[in-house]
Amino acid sequence: MRLEITKPDDWHLHLRDGAVLRDVVPAAARQFERAIVMPNLKPPVTTVAEAEAYRRRILDAVPAGESFDPLMTLYLTDRTPPSEIEAAKRSAAVHAVKIYPAGATTNSENGVTDWGLIRETVAEMARVDLPLLMHGEVTDAEIDVFDRERVFLERHLSPLCADFPNLRVVLEHVTTADSVAFVRSAGDNVAATITAHHLLWNRNELFRGGIRPHAFCLPVLKRERHRQALVEAATSDDASFFLGTDSAPHARGRKESDCGCAGIYTAHAALELYAEAFEDAGALDKLESFASHRGPDFYGLPRNEGKVSLVREEQEIAAELPYGDEVLIPMRAGEKTRWRIAD
Ligand code: DOR
Ligand code: ZN
Repeated sequence: MRLEITKPDDWHLHLRDGAVLRDVVPAAARQFERAIVMPNLKPPVTTVAEAEAYRRRILDAVPAGESFDPLMTLYLTDRTPPSEIEAAKRSAAVHAVKIYPAGATTNSENGVTDWGLIRETVAEMARVDLPLLMHGEVTDAEIDVFDRERVFLERHLSPLCADFPNLRVVLEHVTTADSVAFVRSAGDNVAATITAHHLLWNRNELFRGGIRPHAFCLPVLKRERHRQALVEAATSDDASFFLGTDSAPHARGRKESDCGCAGIYTAHAALELYAEAFEDAGALDKLESFASHRGPDFYGLPRNEGKVSLVREEQEIAAELPYGDEVLIPMRAGEKTRWRIAD
């Protein structure tokens, strides 16, 4: 069986920086034409000038003959001035702003500590129509880690949507039935990305035969009923749900540790993994809309003209992949995917 679709884009991707760009950029460029690139570097990408320089470093790592268009984002801090938002809107490189509640995830220590401090900056985003992308979890230690996304909806997203009814918002990597319901009932200006790992795994994967650091990401995997809600949303006709891998590479030793980092690497086989989830749901006919149409429609960009073909043939996944001087462990390491991309 062969499935030809419009070349997809990844609307949520971590590429990191420096020498590892040569290891992770080619994997993304192989299957995606464009990607929204996350700004949680150390130090974070907070200005248009930094985003433009980072974009050039990414482009230097694109293999000759491949096309890949990195769509940059700014990292919102307590001190991002409204003038930087206006500059971002004018720049051709920057397409959105990302909010990390401080302490929510990898490299979020410069994130927002108080939503009151960012009001004017967010108002400017609404005014110039620049999307706000959210890591949607509260960070209070007393909130159960499995409830942090649901509580975020009540405490932050709901009031924000009421205050800025026209602001374009993407709730990134949604993991719960609650988020799916919220996005469904919100206006067309509120969308969500869904990862391949949250479509394929529930929280049992974290403890399958022992503790599995390579299945740890944030927001953490949830129970089966939530996974099913994500599959329903992704395979529905609702234009608010589109592809964002959240592929997040970390060196093996940083994950296999007594305090391992959050992040699952899927860029090596993302489309193949999504195809499995859609096939399992009997919805392969919806993959193109989810992967290639709804994202550019939301961002106001043209759909891609190129095509990519998936064939239903097994593909072996390496046990580890190079990552600078180290290695990373990809999703499905040492196992197979049911699909592969045709040469
Ligand atoms: O699992 C995650 N990894 N979630 C995030 O929000 C960040 C990401 C990363 O940068 O490693
Ligand atoms: Zn992410």
